[in-house]
Amino acid sequence: MTEPTGLPSAIVDAPRTSLTELFKQEPDRLSRLAFEESGILFDFAKTHLDAGLVKAFADLAAQRGLVAKRDALFAGATINVTEGRAAEHSAERGQGSPESVARARGLQARMRALIDAIEAEALGPISHILHVGIGGSALGPELLVDALGRDADRYDVAVVSNVDGAALEEVFQSFDPAATLLVIASKTFTTTETMMNARSVLSWMEEGGVDDPYAQVVALTASPDKAIEWGVDETRVLPFSESVGGRYSLWSSIGFPAALGLGWDAFEDMLEGAAAMDRHFRLAPLEKNAPVIAAFVDQYYSAVRGAETRAVFAYDERLRLLPSYLQQLEMESNGKSVKADGSPVDGPTAAITWGGVGTDAQHAVFQLLHQGTRLVPVEFVAVSEPGHALDDGHHRALLINCFAQGAALMAGKANDDPARAYAGDRPSTTLLIDQLTPARLGALLAFYEHRTFVNAVLLGINPFDQFGVELGKEIAKSIESEGTDRFDASTRALIQRAFG
Ligand code: F6P
Repeated sequence: MTEPTGLPSAIVDAPRTSLTELFKQEPDRLSRLAFEESGILFDFAKTHLDAGLVKAFADLAAQRGLVAKRDALFAGATINVTEGRAAEHSAERGQGSPESVARARGLQARMRALIDAIEAEALGPISHILHVGIGGSALGPELLVDALGRDADRYDVAVVSNVDGAALEEVFQSFDPAATLLVIASKTFTTTETMMNARSVLSWMEEGGVDDPYAQVVALTASPDKAIEWGVDETRVLPFSESVGGRYSLWSSIGFPAALGLGWDAFEDMLEGAAAMDRHFRLAPLEKNAPVIAAFVDQYYSAVRGAETRAVFAYDERLRLLPSYLQQLEMESNGKSVKADGSPVDGPTAAITWGGVGTDAQHAVFQLLHQGTRLVPVEFVAVSEPGHALDDGHHRALLINCFAQGAALMAGKANDDPARAYAGDRPSTTLLIDQLTPARLGALLAFYEHRTFVNAVLLGINPFDQFGVELGKEIAKSIESEGTDRFDASTRALIQRAFG
């Protein structure tokens, strides 16, 4: 029998055995549900997936055509049906159809040549990189540079996304216009915030005495004609394929600030790390396949246990931007109400992704996780090797806190005083990375991409479009062009109050 969630009763009506009881009932639990891939230990043992549920979800995945859809993804089939395109981000890391891999390699060679030229000071003595872009054209590169570039002294890299002028102004205070490379990252090359920010950077350069600011501009885009029309010299336009989605684009020329700031070798290592995860996703059996098991966990808590959110805590400062990167990846991909064929979905789609860094979050939001009334599956992401040279005590304390939180959520603690009691049986997943190298980060991010894809397949939705973001943009434009008459009283009053 299929439930309103669209899930079979083998999943919906599975016994709700507690986590501590599951560890007793399944002596092989840890060896089945904690496994290593690409230097990352994926530990799903503190979730409620038991052998029966894994089998039931594997059957569901077979019924929903996961293997065929995965093959279609890597083959470059038109899997983004609503936009009539393929989704070829894996081709950027050498995993795709021979034609798309060759095209990606060609475009990467072009990027590398420009990086070599910049390093040889062909564009003058550049020491500051000002990357303007938003959403997928900013979150990925910003995460890479923040995570891996802490000791890099090659260039100062700033990523500005917000149209709020305060964001640019802050960068202007420390950057020298004559030594700044403006990098405009926009797949469409039409995004209002990015184009406005780019124009303001050009004005700042002019005011700062740069004779020809356009000579210090690079464009990263799938619309090269628009970039050229805007004024970027063709030799400094780094295209990427239309079939690479914005939130999946850090592997393409959108990763330019990382490739320049961290060095080409690091960028290539990151691509190779992601390729290793692609191979794992394609070849590993479903019950030992990290993105697949992670998606089973996501679907179980969201559809069966009613979890509205999932929380990700990076127990490593270098990964502090991971939660916001994942918010776009997961919520823009799977926050939908209709399936790929246009019919309504059967149950909830993407949970709300949120999170922060440990140990800070322990002193702010963990109260609710331990004692609140809402179920929040938690994901801990930690790194064995520290990212600093301070006394080892810091890192040991960080990791012990991380592991203690997972244990506490699961075990709970009885107390006669209800205010001091912990119910326990709260699930968590832990991802423990051996070292935060470019290859490991590439593998980690590819894992999240594939997990998002498997979730979409199980839900029957297309993760590669994002029509939900359009209406707000349209209305903002029409306020500027048509005025406010057609809007409601509240919106009119707000505009009147702000602008008079
Ligand atoms: O508004 C959403 C969105 O289209 C994202 O999907 C995308 O990553 C972002 O805007 C930026 O778009 P672009 O790269 O075309 O400027």
